[in-house]
Amino acid sequence: MKKAEKRKIKITGTGFYAPDKVLTNFDLEKMVDTTDEWIISRTGIRERRVGSEDQATSDLAVEAAHITLKNAGLKVKDIDLIIVATSTPDTIFPSTACWVQSKLGADHIPAFDISAGCTGFIYGMILAEGLILSGINKRILLIGSEFLTKVTNWKDRNTCVLFGDAAGAVVLEESRDDSGMLSSYWKADGKLGDLLSLPGGGTRIPATAQMIAQDLHYLQMKGNEVFKHAVKRMGEAAIATLKKAGLEKEDIDYLIPHQANIRIIDATGRRLKLPPEKVYINIHKYGNVSVATIPIALHELNESGKLNDGTIIVMDAFGAGFTWAALTYRW
Ligand code: UT7
Repeated sequence: MKKAEKRKIKITGTGFYAPDKVLTNFDLEKMVDTTDEWIISRTGIRERRVGSEDQATSDLAVEAAHITLKNAGLKVKDIDLIIVATSTPDTIFPSTACWVQSKLGADHIPAFDISAGCTGFIYGMILAEGLILSGINKRILLIGSEFLTKVTNWKDRNTCVLFGDAAGAVVLEESRDDSGMLSSYWKADGKLGDLLSLPGGGTRIPATAQMIAQDLHYLQMKGNEVFKHAVKRMGEAAIATLKKAGLEKEDIDYLIPHQANIRIIDATGRRLKLPPEKVYINIHKYGNVSVATIPIALHELNESGKLNDGTIIVMDAFGAGFTWAALTYRW
């Protein structure tokens, strides 16, 4: 008799939204001392999207939510929880998820944010698994939404060439077949938090004119330090989740890595001994959109018809915190 498989959650809809406005490397050449050549060779980014002044993170999230629900063939009333992963909330409180809930008209269903840097989407998947398999929720809308250009210092060439704005989403419910999330792995190291942070505007350094004069309301990063940790931890996380799923590196059909730097992505692919065609890359189009990178990549793969029954995907991320996490998924 076939052994009963572990209960799993399944992705039943994917979608994303990226603002129309494109900012190219050539545009940036006119703003800071940089070159298209430097940005492409050091990061892999060619262009990124920029939201408009009157938009906030919840507006990107709502666009992504509508598209994702439509792709899933669902209405707002069919979901029973909204989780928004973000590091760039509309407001410190209420949560961005509550603004999204209001704009969707999803009256009275619970809604909250999670803050786990660029790893927030995978953290959200793991949280959703617990909520669904314990019977607390039936159908969760998980959105990764980020408006990084509003917290970017446009005078700092070390960071302003890297980031963009976008939102990606999935609908999650219990799987009734063999597909779904097979395993996961999540970690954090708060001792390294200062290497990538937005220091001002919270309770440590409240908003003051002096704080703004010191540029502490902008994202700050020690890029090359973060880089080394990202390479190490993303390799570790992918290998750990595969092992938990009882699979080998050769079983991977697609690696969806967080898109922070093409050199980090390539190093992770090499660590897993994957040929380039199995490593999904879209950083050239959107730059680093933090929590949105993985759901966008997942949707693009889904739309392109490359995901078939049984396709094995590993999603893998690293971000502020530091946080790092990966999951193995059978489509
Ligand atoms: O999403 C969360 C996780 N985030 C990440 O994983 C990001 C990780 N870090 C990175 O992706 C890379 O470290 C960066 C892309 C941020 C920087 O690349 P790097 O190869 O680590 O460069 P670096 O910071 O060591 O700087 C090398 C040189 C410096 O010049 P000197 O001091 O050698 O003369 C920088 O000033 O490159 C210079 N530089 C630039 N030059 C032209 C830094 N930014 C630029 C720029 N254009 N935009």
